[in-house]
Amino acid sequence: MSNNERTYIMIKPDGVQRGLVGKIIQRFEERGFKLTALKLVQATEAHLEQHYADLKGKGFFPGLIKYMASGPVVAMVWEGLDAVKTGRVMLGATNPLQSPVGSIRGDYCLAVGRNICHGSDSVESAEKEIGLWFPEGVNQYISALEPWIFE
Ligand code: PPS
Repeated sequence: MSNNERTYIMIKPDGVQRGLVGKIIQRFEERGFKLTALKLVQATEAHLEQHYADLKGKGFFPGLIKYMASGPVVAMVWEGLDAVKTGRVMLGATNPLQSPVGSIRGDYCLAVGRNICHGSDSVESAEKEIGLWFPEGVNQYISALEPWIFE
């Protein structure tokens, strides 16, 4: 766990189309995480199949790929203390009906197949996902305020 831990957070097509981009970004900013990369991407099915490669055998896989390719997603990298685990807590449970009120999914969605956002489940998969979605690389920067924000 370090101040520089990175996680990959993605706002899915339904989150973009429902106008939730600003609200989701605001939660990560307000919590104290640093935005180090962000772009709007219309992903191809081939790219999404790579992202979700571990789920290839699941019955919901074809539907998941079609949903994720149905419109642009917002791909982001957020950095900060315990970013991976805390990011997942902020998103809530995969099934929104089991997400506590106060989490992103618990406040904004209902169905597991339309759960508006994705967050890496480990530091290892975060680095893999960042490489997949940002092959051009991610800029590192040091905010002038950092010494006064982070212990
Ligand atoms: S599993 O079955 O335990 O491996 O799946 P899980 O870890 O719960 O979820 C992995 C990703 O699949 C998405 N998912 C679904 N999409 C569409 N329909 C259904 N029924 C469904 N169930 C799970 C789930 O949102 C996870 O995607 P991400 O992008 O990580 O949220």
